[in-house]
Amino acid sequence: MKKLLYIDACIRNNESRTKRIATPIVDVLKERYDVDTLVLNELPLDIVKEELLQKRVNGQVEPEVMTWAEMVRDADRIVIAAPFWDMSIPAALKVFFELCSLFDVTFGSDDKTCFGKCRAEKMLYITTRGMDIPTGDVLEQATPYLKALSWLWGIGPLQVVAAQNMDYVSAEEIEAKITSAIAEGMEIAKVF
Ligand SMILES: Cc1cc2nc3c(=O)[nH]c(=O)nc-3n(C[C@H](O)[C@H](O)[C@H](O)COP(=O)(O)O)c2cc1C
Repeated sequence: MKKLLYIDACIRNNESRTKRIATPIVDVLKERYDVDTLVLNELPLDIVKEELLQKRVNGQVEPEVMTWAEMVRDADRIVIAAPFWDMSIPAALKVFFELCSLFDVTFGSDDKTCFGKCRAEKMLYITTRGMDIPTGDVLEQATPYLKALSWLWGIGPLQVVAAQNMDYVSAEEIEAKITSAIAEGMEIAKVF
């Protein structure tokens, strides 16, 4: 069975609307993929600062961090669930990415530029946004970043399932948005 890495960055966990959308989509993908899940709330995510960078330069990478980076590199598909925070992704997810962005693991370089070393041909990003900001809007800085990072890591096209305006509509409308996003994700899952 091919491998799928699910990165759960739904920091509000059981309160998370993003997680409510992602869970049934990932569940259906479990029928076709061997799914590994990384729940960022549960990981010791050290911010990449001078000491950590110095260790990295000396070839010292925490074994657990290397395991995450290898999981990213070796996954056939990647699903990320993350709420829209401060017009982008939660910092915990950015830290996770910085930790996994390891030379000769997730990316390499030649004498001219960098290239990716990951195998995933597709990546799915599931999100919810408080304000009425659509995917691709200039105020929406999560998708452009994820696209750029997936280029660096050599990961195939990014698909996005998003529900927006979640903090300014009625409870019924929130439920309708969640239902609609799950349906959209299920369609993508059929051919993902
Ligand atoms: C720390 C934090 C930062 C947020 N920043 C933004 C923001 O910049 N723009 C926005 O539209 N909504 C923002 N929101 C609202 C969330 O995007 C919205 O409530 C979303 O549905 C939360 O997802 P969740 O239910 O999966 O946690 C923020 C919420 C939190 C808790």
